[in-house]
Amino acid sequence: MSFRLIFCLIFLLPRVILSDPSQPNQVVLLDTTAVLGELGWKTYPVNGWDAITEMDEQNRPIHTFQVCHVMEPNQNNWLRSNWIPRQAAQKIYVELRFTLRDCNSIPWVSGTCKETFNLLYQETDEPRGPAARFHPADYAKIDTIAADESFTQTDLGDRVLRLNTEVREVGPIERKGFYLAFQDVGACIALVSVRVYYKKCPSTLRNLAAFPDTVPRVDSSSLVEVRGACVENAEERDTPKLYCGADGDWLVPLGRCVCSVGHEESDGLCLACRPGFYKAFAGNIKCSKCPPHSFSHSEGSAFCHCEKDFYRAPKDPATMACTRPPSAPRNPMFTINETALFLEWMPPSDTGGRKDLTYNVLCQRCGGAGQACEPCDGDVRFVPRPLGLTGTSVAVQDFVANANYTFQIEAVNGVSGMGRKARPLANVTVSTEQAGPSLVGVVRKDWASQNSIALSWQEAEQPHGAILDYEIKYYEKEQEQLSYSSTRTKSPSVIVSGLKPSTVYVFHVRARTLAGYSGYSPKSEFATGDENSEEASDQGPVLVIVTAAVGGFSLLVILTLFLLITGRCQWYIKAKMKSEEKRRTHYQNGHVPFPGMKTYVDPDTYEDPTLAVHEFAKEIDPSRIRIERVIGAGEFGEVCSGRLRTPGKKEIPVAIKTLKGGYTERQRRDFLREASIMGQFDNPNIIRLEGVVTKSRPVMIVVEYMENGSLDSFLRKHDGHFTVIQLVGMLRGIASGMMYLSDIGYVHRDLAARNILVDDNLVCKVSDFGLSRVLEDDPEAAYTTTGGKIPIRWTAPEAIAYRKFSSASDVWSYGIVMWEVMSYGERPYWEMSNQDVILSIEEGYRLPAPMGCPVALHQLMLHCWQKERNRRPRFNDIVDFLDKLIRNPGCLLTLVDDVQSFPESPEDTPEYPLFISIGDWLDSIKMSQYKNNFLAAGYTTLDSVSTMSIDDVRRIGVSLIGHQRRIVSSIQTLRLQFLHVQQSGFHV
Ligand code: ADE
Repeated sequence: MSFRLIFCLIFLLPRVILSDPSQPNQVVLLDTTAVLGELGWKTYPVNGWDAITEMDEQNRPIHTFQVCHVMEPNQNNWLRSNWIPRQAAQKIYVELRFTLRDCNSIPWVSGTCKETFNLLYQETDEPRGPAARFHPADYAKIDTIAADESFTQTDLGDRVLRLNTEVREVGPIERKGFYLAFQDVGACIALVSVRVYYKKCPSTLRNLAAFPDTVPRVDSSSLVEVRGACVENAEERDTPKLYCGADGDWLVPLGRCVCSVGHEESDGLCLACRPGFYKAFAGNIKCSKCPPHSFSHSEGSAFCHCEKDFYRAPKDPATMACTRPPSAPRNPMFTINETALFLEWMPPSDTGGRKDLTYNVLCQRCGGAGQACEPCDGDVRFVPRPLGLTGTSVAVQDFVANANYTFQIEAVNGVSGMGRKARPLANVTVSTEQAGPSLVGVVRKDWASQNSIALSWQEAEQPHGAILDYEIKYYEKEQEQLSYSSTRTKSPSVIVSGLKPSTVYVFHVRARTLAGYSGYSPKSEFATGDENSEEASDQGPVLVIVTAAVGGFSLLVILTLFLLITGRCQWYIKAKMKSEEKRRTHYQNGHVPFPGMKTYVDPDTYEDPTLAVHEFAKEIDPSRIRIERVIGAGEFGEVCSGRLRTPGKKEIPVAIKTLKGGYTERQRRDFLREASIMGQFDNPNIIRLEGVVTKSRPVMIVVEYMENGSLDSFLRKHDGHFTVIQLVGMLRGIASGMMYLSDIGYVHRDLAARNILVDDNLVCKVSDFGLSRVLEDDPEAAYTTTGGKIPIRWTAPEAIAYRKFSSASDVWSYGIVMWEVMSYGERPYWEMSNQDVILSIEEGYRLPAPMGCPVALHQLMLHCWQKERNRRPRFNDIVDFLDKLIRNPGCLLTLVDDVQSFPESPEDTPEYPLFISIGDWLDSIKMSQYKNNFLAAGYTTLDSVSTMSIDDVRRIGVSLIGHQRRIVSSIQTLRLQFLHVQQSGFHV
């Protein structure tokens, strides 16, 4: 028999190709399908397992181990692999492919035939010698392996092979290697392949940084932080990091490198710019073509060299074309009248390619014939100036008569003087043929008052013509060079008025004839009189005018200030009113806060949402954050736990929500919206925002860490573990957080146990704010007929029907959270469809009290679920009520299960659904599979079912605790239904 079976196993085996699906995150330590020679595995006893090696079509061996001593009792057959070095592995995976024959298909073997085998291992630092004895006790069991699919004779007849694949994890492996062993205790097995591997995060390039092969931690929930090294020709911006997860996946890319100067990114590498191109800055920008008149002959150029005769000014950017000095100005001309000489010219034909063109005018004065020329220096005056002229003309004043002047006009730009070439000049020669007058005689003071000085002087000895007038130039001695005034007179005397009292002035005078000006007389200094000076008396009227002027000016200043101030106030008042108005539009649902109370501001009312983030959230330097592990996945990216360092403070644990790369601007805004909202809250029952990272990648939101995660899964994990008072304490915390939110005018819209976080002291905090407007992220949110996405089971009917969200609709959701808490995370309305939930609520149906729920709490739930939203309690009522219960725990002792009377209903006449049969009732709670259990146990009417206790339900064969709970909860509703029916005189 055994022989026949082995024959069947070997020769009816279809060709199974055990391809190694080349997995980059697996390092294979052993793959029997890839071993070409003998495997050399040991069997104990030698006639237990059989090693069979066949050749496939490509003449490669297929190693199979088989055993099938199903007729003989007490089998103990061992097969041991060779020593497998563990390499870098900390945890290994053993993948077995095998077939296992179904004992029922083999006649006469009952009692001896088995359908499992054992997988074991032994760790050692080196292979055991050939003489070493085999001790089964040295092997630690990994698992008992059973087949998912066995095969029967019919299958064999049909040549159908049911190949099982089982993978087991073993770790931590601490010695240098290990053996695997397979213990057969009487099954019919063909072990077709054994593959042993460990997982690694394979070396990769990310954000221009290279990350090496990394072996994950044995503890599958923690990550290995790996720093990347920038690829060649790249440099670090923010330290590049990746985290290696347990499955060999790289997670949460942080930081980045950028290509250095002269290099650009291409397929994850930094390649040198081609000749003719350059890149002047490090960054992820492309190489640019060399600007005009420049070139790069080599690869990897940071800048382009200028062609011959072209230059770059020191401040010219590398992106600018190379330029050259301008050519000479064209067509210089002059015009001269009695007093002034005007020079004019046209711009050069070649500006050199620049816009910073200016002109300099240089002056030389040449005496009579044969006399040398010398620079004019300060003898002539240029208006506006001689150098750095931006226009194409200049006036020359104070030139002397009978002289020859040569003016050289030069065009200059930012690269003039580079390349040491002769400067191109335009020359103009002008001769001033007529001689001007000689100097006037000494200037005298005739008298002085507080504000005036009278002067006179002798006429010029050689006027060379009629004196047209005299120019008197004067300035305050103290203010020399800062400003001066001038006045003219036709006679050789003048009264200079408008001066300051007791002030020394400097005067000089020159004469003008048709030929031009004489030189200035030497400087003369005279002082005005003081207030007591006799000469001042003639200035009375002036004083009145000046006083009046000063008074008038002061009045003007006061008036202006007054207008300014009142104007500003009005502006301020208007602005304040406007901002007040804006604040009002920020309130949701017309909520107006108590005076002095903080109010929630909707970030969507900010034109620039980034402003809102920075108004309400602190920017955190990412170097202060250490990511430790991934704890979840949100719509926008991974959620991690980690630590936040703040200078001068203790490091704190935090949760970090990341925004994955490749996001759109809208996704970034939606992601950060949550931070803008959370940052406005400050309450012990609202999750606290620590800050945001927006200035580097990835964008992150950092919040306080809540050790016990979300409330729904926490309760499911600890089903039945808490006292009622503990549960009420959690509910009180949630109500208190919600009271804070409703007080500041924030409507949550998605209050559910999954959106409550729990810390290690069982403190519950409300979270998940970003999506209060659009519930895109909530898997529970479904589209309504009006097009909104709403978590139906948690939402008040008016919010579902016409999107009337308010703190009152949050109270409805709170009632559902109460129910979730009291039922340890049961799904509200179980498996009923959303549509049935809406209809049932509309018909007056409300969730029954969970098992073991105090009446007082179920009553509170029913109050929260009043159809008329104004009749629902407010959050402060709920907090007060729960506080009273906590202070009087005796009120919590009466459980709904014990109540025999009809509890107060949310409406005066509740309408409970009426069921007409057990089948109908079980269908409605999706428990139809137990119909026969009820009937077989003699429960044939709903009346009899309504008296059943939880023990009765268990006794009739409902063994799953969730099903027991669902049925018992619904039996309570049945009881209410019967009570209601009895009260209304209706009989089923
Ligand atoms: N999951 C999402 N946010 C969390 C937090 N703040 N703490 C723990 N787990 C979380």
